[in-house]
Amino acid sequence: MLTTAKQKSEYTFKANRNLGRHGWLRLTPAYSVKLVEKLLICLEKDAIIADPFSGTATTGLVAAEKGYKAITFDINPFLIWLGKVKCENYSENYLADIRLQVQKALAEYKAIIQQENWVPQIFNIERWWSRQTLQVLAALRVALVEQFGEPIENSSCGLIWVAFCRLVIETSSAAFNHVSMSFNDKVTHFEIEYIEELFLNILNFILKTAENKILGNTNIIEMDACKISKLSNIKVNTIITSPPYPNRISYIRELRPYMYWTKFLNEAKQAGELDWSAVGGTWGIATSRLLSWELLENNLPEEIFSTVEKIRLSDGKNAQLLSIYVLKYFHDMHLHLSSLKSILQDKAELHYIVGNSTFFGNMVDTATLLSASMRLLGYSDIQSEIIRKRNCNKALYEYCVSAKWSSS
Ligand SMILES: C[S@@+](CC[C@H](N)C(=O)[O-])C[C@H]1O[C@@H](n2cnc3c(N)ncnc32)[C@H](O)[C@@H]1O
Repeated sequence: MLTTAKQKSEYTFKANRNLGRHGWLRLTPAYSVKLVEKLLICLEKDAIIADPFSGTATTGLVAAEKGYKAITFDINPFLIWLGKVKCENYSENYLADIRLQVQKALAEYKAIIQQENWVPQIFNIERWWSRQTLQVLAALRVALVEQFGEPIENSSCGLIWVAFCRLVIETSSAAFNHVSMSFNDKVTHFEIEYIEELFLNILNFILKTAENKILGNTNIIEMDACKISKLSNIKVNTIITSPPYPNRISYIRELRPYMYWTKFLNEAKQAGELDWSAVGGTWGIATSRLLSWELLENNLPEEIFSTVEKIRLSDGKNAQLLSIYVLKYFHDMHLHLSSLKSILQDKAELHYIVGNSTFFGNMVDTATLLSASMRLLGYSDIQSEIIRKRNCNKALYEYCVSAKWSSS
């Protein structure tokens, strides 16, 4: 089976770009609408779906578009904000008002381009944007704040700020030809007219697709998936989710241009703190803290320890650090699967999309190790199926690990 698995780009975020609201803002590790739709096919109409690692709210939005009730969690406040903006219904009047206000902002920003406007404290900012692009973005931001208020204070004007985030990334030197974001060799110089036209095109796309009515509803909550607390009056019967993989991808790293420009992040230290609280986070201080992290309770499946030990004993650089990284990842996922039970209905079904990884030639078989955690925690009917081959390395795959929960 391993040799026949294909890359299937329809099962990645790439296929979401032309799917209305799903294409508003890019997060490379987002999963595909098609995959969620496939998992939803057999569900009853009154099913309640949850995604404890919501990201850009793909699960929540697909579920709500199909008329389901859903509830999703994430630890990142920017993603909570984005998810809410994506899953909201917007009236025609509201969308028309936005267009008028944008026209006012566009009539005003040029006059303040030469002023010292606020720019984010993102490290090495000149690597992201040319000086002139930065001046235009900063002035446009001031004019938009004048009309709509700061994004962090006022999620009701989110559409405009999603469009601005998209402008920020499309005028930057960020490159997306690897699993995680990198930089083009040079920053591109854009003319002011080009930037304005690009902004209007992005905005038109977002406002047009925001017209589509959403039938169901999704509640998006800021919550640590490793410490899920009971939800008042709700138990869910289906989990469809894609947690971080143990591959050192940092979501803060991927999201930082958006988070700095919207003021969800103000300094590098904050990014490290947030990533430390995320499963598999390794950005900034999150890496140095790993060295002093200790497992307090030895309650994990044996398979996890043997994988970790192989990494620790390998002669790779930072083998000790990375063995702790892998141990903490599976420890956090075990805590998650344990605390998840408090919101599950009897006979609930779980579907986890996960990827394997390698450290110094040692395979970390995420699907098998999560299955072992599920078994130890009393889940049943555990199965794992290959979804697709990931493109960077022949031995890397994406799996769907499914299980059932019975409360009796
Ligand atoms: C692979 S992404 C999910 C992508 C999502 N399926 C989508 O389509 O956008 C994993 C998500 O888990 C979130 N996350 C990491 N640790 C978490 C935790 N302890 N609690 C809740 N969410 C967490 C990250 O912020 C990230 O958004």
